[in-house]
Amino acid sequence: MKRSCYCGDVRKDSIGKELTVCGWVHSRRDHGGVIFIDLRDRKGILQIVFEPENKEVFAAAEKMRSEYVICVKGRLRHRPEGTVNPNMPTGEVELVISELEILNSAPGLPFEISDYTETSEEIRLKYRYLDLRRPSFQKNFIIRHQISQETRNFFNSEGFLEIETPFLTKSTPEGARDFLVPSRIHHGNFYALPQSPQLFKQILMVSGFDKYYQIARCFRDEDLRADRQLEFTQIDVEMSFIDEDDIISLTEKMLSGVFKKVLNLDIKTPFLRLKYEDAMLRFGSDKPDTRFEMEIKDFSDELKNCGFSVFSSVLSKGNPVRGLCIPKGAGLSRSDIDGLTKFVSEYGAKGLAWMKITKDGAESNIVKYFKDSEIKAIISKLNANAGDLVVFLADDKKIVAQGLGALRLKMAKELGLIDKNKFNFLWVVDFPLFEWDNQEHRWAALHHPFTSPRDGEILSAENAGKAKARAYDIVLNGVELGGGSIRIHKKEVQRKVFEILNISDESSREKFGFLLDALSFGAPPHGGIALGFDRLCALICSEESIREVIAFPKTQKAIDPLSNAPSSVDEKQLKELGIKITLKQAKN
Ligand code: AMO
Ligand code: AMP
Repeated sequence: MKRSCYCGDVRKDSIGKELTVCGWVHSRRDHGGVIFIDLRDRKGILQIVFEPENKEVFAAAEKMRSEYVICVKGRLRHRPEGTVNPNMPTGEVELVISELEILNSAPGLPFEISDYTETSEEIRLKYRYLDLRRPSFQKNFIIRHQISQETRNFFNSEGFLEIETPFLTKSTPEGARDFLVPSRIHHGNFYALPQSPQLFKQILMVSGFDKYYQIARCFRDEDLRADRQLEFTQIDVEMSFIDEDDIISLTEKMLSGVFKKVLNLDIKTPFLRLKYEDAMLRFGSDKPDTRFEMEIKDFSDELKNCGFSVFSSVLSKGNPVRGLCIPKGAGLSRSDIDGLTKFVSEYGAKGLAWMKITKDGAESNIVKYFKDSEIKAIISKLNANAGDLVVFLADDKKIVAQGLGALRLKMAKELGLIDKNKFNFLWVVDFPLFEWDNQEHRWAALHHPFTSPRDGEILSAENAGKAKARAYDIVLNGVELGGGSIRIHKKEVQRKVFEILNISDESSREKFGFLLDALSFGAPPHGGIALGFDRLCALICSEESIREVIAFPKTQKAIDPLSNAPSSVDEKQLKELGIKITLKQAKN
């Protein structure tokens, strides 16, 4: 028997026809002498019916269990009056079976194939092949496929070339930790898996390819989170003879095309552009979620002469006092507020000052230190109403931004202020070129060291904190979807940047001499962007974690429970590589 159509595609226009379908037994119900099976394939579920008159087939159907693989032939009929299921695309019909072939059996399952499984992720990943049979996964991977096809169509139609770049390459400092691959032929030497195709795509511009893209795998040995994996995929783009606006409008065009095609949604372009400094001030984040308001306000001016010494001493050092209004938060108890204080302390905050807003003003342990005019200014700037809770952090800029930014998100989630149906895109622009690394006591590149400073920027170690980069990040619903920049294409500028980053000539030659050489042989002005493809898919599929759109992801502990990687290897393999293990650590 050969399949004539998918289960999920069968509709009432085939009533009366003989059909052959294949799939998995999703569920079986015995109903007074008649057996119903929900048969599942990639396209969905079809109800098939075994009637007792057909003795042989009926007897076989009685033996069938969940996830048996079968092929059946039968005639399609309308379901009897009262048994139509309007919630199923195939709910008006059923296939009455005349022939059955059991292609394979299956033992009892570790968990039910259902979108409502409570099974732990570890078990789900161990039996990922079963997990992936769930309808939500089938849907997610169809969408992922559509997004990649649409992306390729778009770049092809815009005249881009897809070019692959190597996986076995040289370790270069891009921010994260490299995965290293030992060389068998050159003992003691290592390849690195690429953190991104960054250097190679720039070299392709020097080669004159002009418009490059790649749906590229990237590898970073970082701590895992919901939106981070050790290996992930980027939509990677680079162009020559362009500026920021070209990359930005190209990306907007691509994304709005994908959303139209995949979700039939009209995304309004151009996207909002926010300066880095404003994003940090208003949202406490360089990836602001603008689906809700609750903006942070600065009170450094209004409170500079206030009587609350915690604030005035912070302000006198040039650091800010900023606040946030939590709608209807006045109902929070003292212990709730202690919980919030503990929450912001994880970002380094030394406390959390608060005021409950009332009809007549404000109430709290610190209100007595403030003049009426100051309270009024706070209420008016935060647009606070009676019943709201206003909270403040006074500290250095970074702690205030991170603490209030995180609190803003936490409260919005808890208060249900986030509209899940919104897709809020925005660009963050005007990033600083450098940021001070407190641990290493030196300047570090905020993006990567090949990012061009703004035109006319005079670079020096003294002014490094003020220099702006020609970099841009794209944010969707509070997730950093991608980032890119115009690159440095002049050797002298690159040398100056390395100098400020405290990377010596010797060390820069050693690390990326090949890029510097390439740039010296007539590099065109160029720039690009990379979008996190897994993150884009997760957002489009409304999933919280990118693991829901990656077929075989690693767990939070960086393990693949399916293959049990990473694992130990044979002595012989190590010997060939010239490697000796001196420290053994059990995986768990
Ligand atoms: P960047 O490091 O910002 O830029 O990476 C671009 C985008 O890739 C996604 N991403 C990740 N997704 C899943 N797991 C991870 N561990 C992970 N790390 C990053 C994010 C991020 O915005 N070469 C530059 C781009 C350029 O300048 O053109 C780069 O890689 O969505
Ligand atoms: P104290 O003077 O220590 O009793 O603190 C009074 C209030 O100010 C408490 O609610 C503290 O949580 C809060 N507070 C202390 N330090 C800070 C700070 N740096 N920023 C904001 N609030 C603070």
